[in-house]
Amino acid sequence: MQLIRTFSAGRRAMLKGLAAAAVAPLGAPAFARVGLPPQPTGSMAAIATDKSYWAAVKGLYAVTPDILNFENGYWGIMAEPVRREFIRQSDMVNYQNTYYARLRAGTDFEAVRTKVAEAVGALPAEIALTRGATEALQLLIGGYNRLKPGDGVLYADLDYDSMQYAMNALKARRGVDVVKFDVPEPATRQAVLDAYARAIEANPKTRLLLLTHVSHRTGFVMPVAEIARMAKAKGIDTIVDAAHSWGQLDFRVSELEADFVGFNLHKWIGAPLGVGFLYIRKDRLAAIDRNMCDEDFPESDIRSRVHTGTVNFATVLTVPAALALHQEIGAAAKQARLRYLRDYWVSRVRGFKDIEILTPDEAGSYGAITSFRLAGKTGKADNEAIVAKLRDSYRIMTVRRAGVARGQCIRVTPALFTDEADLDRLVEALAVITGTKTG
Ligand SMILES: Cc1ncc(COP(=O)(O)O)c(C=O)c1O
Repeated sequence: MQLIRTFSAGRRAMLKGLAAAAVAPLGAPAFARVGLPPQPTGSMAAIATDKSYWAAVKGLYAVTPDILNFENGYWGIMAEPVRREFIRQSDMVNYQNTYYARLRAGTDFEAVRTKVAEAVGALPAEIALTRGATEALQLLIGGYNRLKPGDGVLYADLDYDSMQYAMNALKARRGVDVVKFDVPEPATRQAVLDAYARAIEANPKTRLLLLTHVSHRTGFVMPVAEIARMAKAKGIDTIVDAAHSWGQLDFRVSELEADFVGFNLHKWIGAPLGVGFLYIRKDRLAAIDRNMCDEDFPESDIRSRVHTGTVNFATVLTVPAALALHQEIGAAAKQARLRYLRDYWVSRVRGFKDIEILTPDEAGSYGAITSFRLAGKTGKADNEAIVAKLRDSYRIMTVRRAGVARGQCIRVTPALFTDEADLDRLVEALAVITGTKTG
């Protein structure tokens, strides 16, 4: 009896919630400002280090206490207000069913596309939503139709594995020569610019370059605009992998000076998993093939380049909430905070015995992510052992990264819910692991 009463009460509450969802206009965003304290004033350095403000930001996230997570490069968890919006939208879609999907989703998705375009500084006609950066970049690399047999395509060791594979696939698909080269280490800005200049010079048949804005291996921030300009001067188009950059770094798409870019919304913008977008500069749409599954949109509409099929409606409908929080904190403040967190641990461990920091301290060359390795420990087993030690002995989560020409490494990625005390724990653990201090 008791059980039945509890169930009925729960059911009544659920139905009440659904009725509320039903009377709200279909898909209407209920998301408002989340009530963070006013942003601190003063220099960016003062804003980035304001303890009470960032404690309030940290308070927006519900995170397991079981582990201290420095593996936030995989994806960015939703802040609680965004997560609640996602649940609300999921409930609404499930309740309204195809009545919502058939009648309203199209209009709502267009509103999301417009918001994303405004936020990244593009025209809505220059972006199309995807399920993530992978889908966006697959469509750009696979759909780029300006290659002839005998042309060359170029990429580097730091580029993302599956994008390297997509570039390799162009050999069979388009009959091109595929060239891979290594980004120098340490990757100073000038050394990197010189390496790209040399690679372009040495491969005069190159017509397409893949460039990763923020390396998922080391965290290095490529001087994308300079390299894309250098490439363009030689008649080479650049596809930029911005999977990691927008939201971690504060920029608008025009600053990349590239015509084709793939973005994520589920990493540093903090949208639910399963959403990103591609950008194609307005006058370059013809260089990317229409999607083979699409005859719905005219050739002149960028949406004809993406045909995802049925998506998680709630994921897309939650993007405005994630963007609203991103904008409330402010892209510049977020970038400054993430750099401060990175500097906090890197500056304390730089002198540790045998530690090599793979990302230079040069302004503009890093964001939140930085990788390290211990001298001579370049293999998988060595780096896995350190990741395991950090996880099992210190309850600190990191990740091993392979694919850097000079050897494997360990990536450390703080997030907006990281604070100085968390970083002190990492520094302490590394002091013992490196033998700088006895444990
Ligand atoms: C540099 C880079 N490119 C592309 C991707 C693919 O992004 P997603 O798996 O979110 O589509 C990632 C993911 O970590 C990445 O780090």
